[in-house]
Amino acid sequence: MQLLSFLALGLGASDVCALLRFSCSGLVTERLDPLVNPGVKGLPHLHQIIGGNAFNVTMDPKADISTMATCTTCTFSEDISNYWTAVLYFRARNGTFKRVPQIGNQNFEAANWGMTIYYSPYTAKGIKTTAFQKGFRMLVGDPSLRNKEGADKYRQLTYTCLKLQVLGREKRRICQINLVRLESWRTSGFRRVGMVNFENNGPCPSTHPVKIPQLFFEVVWDTRKFNDKSLWPIDGSQPFVWSYGDATGCGTHGDYVFGWKGDSLQKAMDSNCNINCPALKTQSIADANKCSLKSVVTEDIDSWLTELPGGMPVVE
Ligand SMILES: *[C@@H]1O[C@H](CO)[C@@H](O)[C@H](O)[C@H]1NC(C)=O
Ligand SMILES: *[C@@H]1O[C@H](CO)[C@@H](O)[C@H](O)[C@H]1NC(C)=O
Repeated sequence: MQLLSFLALGLGASDVCALLRFSCSGLVTERLDPLVNPGVKGLPHLHQIIGGNAFNVTMDPKADISTMATCTTCTFSEDISNYWTAVLYFRARNGTFKRVPQIGNQNFEAANWGMTIYYSPYTAKGIKTTAFQKGFRMLVGDPSLRNKEGADKYRQLTYTCLKLQVLGREKRRICQINLVRLESWRTSGFRRVGMVNFENNGPCPSTHPVKIPQLFFEVVWDTRKFNDKSLWPIDGSQPFVWSYGDATGCGTHGDYVFGWKGDSLQKAMDSNCNINCPALKTQSIADANKCSLKSVVTEDIDSWLTELPGGMPVVE
């Protein structure tokens, strides 16, 4: 096991195969969650956040964050949204924790860590996909879950270990975690594609007839520095623990606050862009890397720690 990532795969087989795929570099890593614990600094567990630098302890749904940020870490520079996930730690045999490096994805290796983001209109011909509106936010997953029955409620959240990923010119064995993230307004129509369960172009319920984009995050962790099994738990169990105290992986989750400027996301959905999108403004990964945000919660997250940040207990 060498690299871990969240994966988004959903190509082919739908009426419209277009999708945006782009890099958003790391913005800040801290214990804030403006969706679940608005206004509270240092709660609950450590998150890694990408996107616009208007991310804050409070994010008012009535405020237009696209006008509040001065920069974004996304290469589509009109995307001021924020996206976040929990952070992965290695728990050594002696009980101490070390953060697992999170790295840029294939083709986005120049990013200062970060994630790969995908938006897809996935719709039948003639049916319009409506971009998220100002104030839209969503989350998927539940950090309290620790078993398969619970995790089965969130089939969009998946992990994969890959044997190979081409990084630069070197082929390396990797391990990958998948997260496929769906809009909340579609029901049924789950399909199985490879190892990834996701819903593609399912019918909208009559109560929620508006088709909105599918959004995926893909996140890669480089676990290679923890390959030495003599440091792993003595019972041979796997050594990785999420920052919310989960050694099972069942409670993985992701969050989103919409923040595209003006009608830029709608333009991208309407033009069925594939990977790149001439309808959108772009910036280089080097420029995206320059956007950053100072943590408002200052604490050590990178040493060998005797407990997870915030003292999160590991609940198996
Ligand atoms: C975060 O919010 C505080 C007030 O709650 C404000 O002073 C600060 O400037 C905000 N930070 C950013 C980056 O918008
Ligand atoms: C625990 O083990 C790690 C890995 O060998 C080591 O770096 C760290 O210093 C150890 N911590 C303690 C408190 O022994």
